[in-house]
Amino acid sequence: MTGLVVAMDGPSGSGKSSVSRGAARALGLRYLDTGAMYRAMTWWMLQQGVELTDPAAVAARCGEPAIVSGTNPDGPTIHVDGVDVAEPIRQAEVTGAVSAVAAVPEVRARLVALQREIIGAGDIVVEGRDIGSVVWPQAAAKIYLTASPEARARRRSAEVAGSTVEAQQEAMARRDTLDSTRKTDPLSMAAGAIELDTTALTLDEVIAEVLRLVKERT
Ligand code: DC
Repeated sequence: MTGLVVAMDGPSGSGKSSVSRGAARALGLRYLDTGAMYRAMTWWMLQQGVELTDPAAVAARCGEPAIVSGTNPDGPTIHVDGVDVAEPIRQAEVTGAVSAVAAVPEVRARLVALQREIIGAGDIVVEGRDIGSVVWPQAAAKIYLTASPEARARRRSAEVAGSTVEAQQEAMARRDTLDSTRKTDPLSMAAGAIELDTTALTLDEVIAEVLRLVKERT
């Protein structure tokens, strides 16, 4: 399986992270969470007091932070200028601001270049929104995970302490709209991608289906 790249795209709450990590583990591949890179960039911008509603201000500074992703599926890491940001990038402040930062073309250009460097010779499962369409269209297997809005909100609210399913569903709908209507590389299903609806499946069932699809494609 040398050189294998699996592109795993889809909206938040579709199960991308758990499925990607599980599949990477089963296949003996590395794992890259590109959403964590957009979150890390957003965290840094917030720390710096950059006005996030001003795309020009975000563009002007986005070349500065050193963002380093560790790709072990058993313990992926993310550092910004040497600081471990795995926890702060999941906080509400970052989650609420990341879509605006991810919509800035200069941010995407920088992070896509970084992602391509990491993917390099392959042997990796990469999760995001635009992996099969933009970052690595030549991926051997492109999978697009979906789930009903209710299922996605239920999963997310189980992960985030003190949140209700309704509030999650509303916040997700807002983020989906921003992510799929932005001008640069919006969330969309790549040509040649296989759609996998995870609503009625357990995590193990989804991973098994992904392994089957990867095998079929390679
Ligand atoms: O998957 P996530 O929720 O951690 O992603 C955080 C944000 O980053 C999300 O709003 C969309 C954006 N994103 C993106 O634009 N492109 C990617 N490849 C991954 C994430």
